[in-house]
Amino acid sequence: MRLENKIAIITGGGSGIGLSCARLFCQEGAKVVIFGRRQDRLENAVREIGDNSLAVSGDITRQEDIKKLVETTLNTYGRIDILVNSAGIFTGTPLHEMKDDEWDTALDINMNGVFKLTREVLPPMIRQKSGSIVNISSILGLVAAPGTSAYNVSKGALNQFSRSLAVEYGVSGIRSNAICPGLIATEMTQELMDDEDLMREWRKNYPIGRFGQPEDVAQACLFLASDESSFITGANIPVDGGYTAL
Ligand SMILES: NC(=O)c1ccc[n+]([C@@H]2O[C@H](COP(=O)([O-])OP(=O)(O)OC[C@H]3O[C@@H](n4cnc5c(N)ncnc54)[C@H](O)[C@@H]3O)[C@@H](O)[C@H]2O)c1
Repeated sequence: MRLENKIAIITGGGSGIGLSCARLFCQEGAKVVIFGRRQDRLENAVREIGDNSLAVSGDITRQEDIKKLVETTLNTYGRIDILVNSAGIFTGTPLHEMKDDEWDTALDINMNGVFKLTREVLPPMIRQKSGSIVNISSILGLVAAPGTSAYNVSKGALNQFSRSLAVEYGVSGIRSNAICPGLIATEMTQELMDDEDLMREWRKNYPIGRFGQPEDVAQACLFLASDESSFITGANIPVDGGYTAL
């Protein structure tokens, strides 16, 4: 059991990468609190994962929902060992056509929400003198793609946020790392991945010859959440089949 008795908060835990992390973490002995907007998805996830999971519904951009998440976790389990920030949205619009709303929403969910939740999770971690924060960023936080500037910027900021946490709270026993996935088969990418011609082209950018599955990312999360990675902090780790190596 690689996460025995660890308490984890996982945002975006009702689907995709977050759900895959929740499943794997529970298999490895953790208790997980999953957070997301869609109550039905969260309930399904808890039903599937079982007794060691708890759902809290809410929006990562709302301070009161964040407080509810942290309070529920502390009241139920008494501590927070792991935070996986997986809630996020993808947006694609040419920059010169971008409305303020779209830009602001991407930054509010993908970056500002992570900041607001992390700010609440840090005090208990500082008291415990331990914690591992894993931010689900993207290869588009490391390199840019055309037509997705708001997303690129939000994930680039998240990578730097992750490093900032590492250097500020290493002394408190808290580690922080970002995972930068390439294209992963989830609801977020379903429409893109249904386009066979496009995928044939894109696959050429993946030396390993395939796109990723949520489990590929969850395995990396598990390693970073566990004590096996105790000397790794401040890293932005691609999980991308070699995309950024090409
Ligand atoms: N799928 C990919 O190819 C890919 C690649 C790189 C990075 N990522 C990142 O991985 C993370 C997870 O995405 P996924 O692929 O699992 O897709 P997904 O759509 O299945 O998961 C995203 C989750 O975030 C939740 N969410 C969105 N806005 C929210 C808000 N305001 N408050 C609370 N929850 C909110 C959604 O309900 C959903 O459960 C995202 O941050 C995404 O940017 C995905």
